[in-house]
Amino acid sequence: MKSVFRDDILEGKVALVTGGGSGICKGIAQALLAHGARCAIVGRKAERLAGAAAELSATTGRECIALPADVRDTAAIEKVVDSTLERFGRIDVLVNGAAGNFLAPAAQLSYNGFKTVMEIDAIGTFNVTKATFEKRLRDHGGNVINISATLHLGGTPLQVHAASAKAAIDAMTRTLAIEWGPLGIRVNAIAPGPIDETEGMKRLAPGGVKDRMTAAIPLGRFGRIDEMASIALFLASDASSYIHGEVIVADGGAWLPTVSPLAFAG
Ligand code: NAP
Ligand code: COA
Repeated sequence: MKSVFRDDILEGKVALVTGGGSGICKGIAQALLAHGARCAIVGRKAERLAGAAAELSATTGRECIALPADVRDTAAIEKVVDSTLERFGRIDVLVNGAAGNFLAPAAQLSYNGFKTVMEIDAIGTFNVTKATFEKRLRDHGGNVINISATLHLGGTPLQVHAASAKAAIDAMTRTLAIEWGPLGIRVNAIAPGPIDETEGMKRLAPGGVKDRMTAAIPLGRFGRIDEMASIALFLASDASSYIHGEVIVADGGAWLPTVSPLAFAG
């Protein structure tokens, strides 16, 4: 997909992208690199992460480094921020995309199942944001982009864990926007709907579920990774310089209907 953005809009900038080794956030890292940024990506699986960083560097011609870490481990995350600063001297954009999810009815979800998703998605987002704030953003400003979802805008069965975690991320987005706006730190979020060719949708829309979900989406299709990457690029750039504390929903209108379109299907 040819970008609609000029290819130097992030020249000189540095991005730290959690979850950047795969899926939507790899697409985001790719777009940031392709538009001038250098990048560090974070995930737990060191080998896959290194492969993604090598591929992204090769395809974009700009440096992408792999920094394996678990966002639940605050000491490891502080090291990630230190290593990024040592390598690149700055961090301008933080993308909080690391997340975990699975389908589970609340009745069958264990205490630890709920806690695990809260810890990766919500607390992990806070951990990385806080460490980056302390070590860089507080004194230099910057741009935080959280990856939310639409699960909690209405109610989503089998998703009490992820919906609760993403609701917390939206709350963080708005609260930090108020606290940190005066420091020159913009904080926004992207709430993707169902995105094709992702681990998330492999897990949440198996088999015939995808067809039934698609039938209920006003735009009639799942989204694409490059569409999410374009929003991140917009938010990372000066094109969005007055957008702050916003959660941008990009779901083809999927969450809007109060009565499912399927109710009227012939
Ligand atoms: P994905 O490829 O599985 O991305 C999740 C990434 O997070 C992986 O690279 C994973 O790498 C990393 N990660 C997971 N736990 C981690 C931890 N504890 N510490 C560090 N990294 C961790 O899935 P995706 O579908 O592209 O999802 C990307 C983001 O979009 C997520 O925030 C998700 O909630 C959101 N989202 C996706 C959809 C969708 O349709 N796919 C819809 C709405 C929102 P490791 O396994 O190597 O750690
Ligand atoms: N249904 C119900 N419970 C589940 C589950 C499922 N499909 N998968 C995991 N859990 C529970 C486990 O049983 C465990 O609880 P327990 O100790 O009470 O048994 C708890 O969740 C933690 O599981 P564990 O595998 O130890 O966690 P982890 O930290 O190694 O991995 C996950 C985190 C579970 C979220 C894992 O799926 C993951 O790493 N996901 C990343 C990729 C991803 O989800 N991508 C999509 C993003 S939208």
